[in-house]
Amino acid sequence: MTESITITDNRSGEQIEIPIVNGGVDASEWGKLLPGVWFYDPSFDHTAAAASAITELDGEKGILRYRGYPIEQLAEQSTYLEVAYLLIFGELPAPNQFEAWVHDVTYHTFLHENVRKKFMDGFHHDAHPMGVLVSTIAALSTFYNDAKNIDDPADRYKQIVRLIAKMPTMAAGAHRHSVGMPFVYPDNNLDFASNFLSMMWKVAEPQYEPNPVLSRALDVLFILHADHEQNCSTTAMRVVASSLADPYVSTAAAAAALYGPRHGGANEAVVRMLGEIGSMDDVGDYIKRVKAGEVRLQGFGHRVYRNYDPRATIIKQTADEVFEVTGKNPLLDIALKLEEVALADNYFTSRKLYPNVDFYSGLIYQAMDFPIDMFPVLFAIPRTSGWLAHWVELLDQNARIARPRQLYDGVPQRDYQAIDKR
Ligand code: CMC
Repeated sequence: MTESITITDNRSGEQIEIPIVNGGVDASEWGKLLPGVWFYDPSFDHTAAAASAITELDGEKGILRYRGYPIEQLAEQSTYLEVAYLLIFGELPAPNQFEAWVHDVTYHTFLHENVRKKFMDGFHHDAHPMGVLVSTIAALSTFYNDAKNIDDPADRYKQIVRLIAKMPTMAAGAHRHSVGMPFVYPDNNLDFASNFLSMMWKVAEPQYEPNPVLSRALDVLFILHADHEQNCSTTAMRVVASSLADPYVSTAAAAAALYGPRHGGANEAVVRMLGEIGSMDDVGDYIKRVKAGEVRLQGFGHRVYRNYDPRATIIKQTADEVFEVTGKNPLLDIALKLEEVALADNYFTSRKLYPNVDFYSGLIYQAMDFPIDMFPVLFAIPRTSGWLAHWVELLDQNARIARPRQLYDGVPQRDYQAIDKR
């Protein structure tokens, strides 16, 4: 069987044969036969906007791998910081590389005092922490002039370390501000996830000691959320970075894309939905409303997974471990019932709608006492390493500026009318 397609221009009868490589065709080949004719694909459903060696995702088979390593193995055996290194540098670190990496990230956790005092403290008391986070990431761009030197490997490394290290500090700071609690400085004796928990919850104790089960659960959630190939926020990162903007403003743009309820805000929407349903007896009625198109079943469905999201399977196990410590989240039974009813219903199975990563992650976060507003922030912390891996890859590819075509469907030319004639 020939791995190619042949296109005929019916206007001229001319033909062109285009090879199919890795399941896709090179769109620029079309241009050779059909100059000026472009694809209309507004949500990139049929368009690969990048070649990438970072994450492999097979939505039909439910496969997710970072740099070739199955997500299940990483979630069981690795740590978030090791995974961040793997994503960005392409290989698992050797012991000395890992030691240096952990040291560098740990010692860049502090924020410039003006970031905290002038920027973060300036937000209104009820500001959504994700809005605070997005703005503060962008503000970092004004503190590090070396961020513009994106071709210098040493400067690049510095910004990567700073961003990964400071995300938990900014995230926890956004929360403390919203509840009127004093800001907690990083504790560099703690590991990445434990330090974040300390900055979130420490009150007057000399050293915060997080429950190791909860720290590990959070670290696993960070691993699961670290990258997911060309999702909405990563695409935003790549598009903005393709203009050669610095990594702080590019990351702020990616975080802004993550803020929406169709993306990083979905776990927040799941918990609100479960609260709205209120009891197991009302699950059937809610499913009816979903099928009538009145509401969506939050935490279900995915643009690429047409099978169970492998992250959802791991998260379900993590949820059991967390609930052993925190007690069961009362919304869990409603979630389990919803899943059972939906998976037995042709509406969902025929559309290949299965639970995604967000169906259970919100329940874990809630059991760990994170306010709902913090859920997208918890997603942004680890996704930063994925965004930065794509940033490095894009720069190394010498990618051209992203500039899609447009199908103009507005009015044709017309003459300007003076205001008294309208
Ligand atoms: N509940 C009910 N029906 C749904 C849902 C849902 N959650 N998702 C899709 N459908 C239906 C949709 O109405 C359509 O039906 P029909 O063919 O009759 O018109 C069909 O399934 C195909 O849906 P679509 O809107 O074309 O799917 P999409 O690929 O554009 O959207 C999605 C993907 C994730 C935005 C969508 O499934 C959704 O809104 N899910 C709920 C929000 C959510 O859980 N988001 C988290 C995604 S995972 C985390 C991340 O990676 O950010």
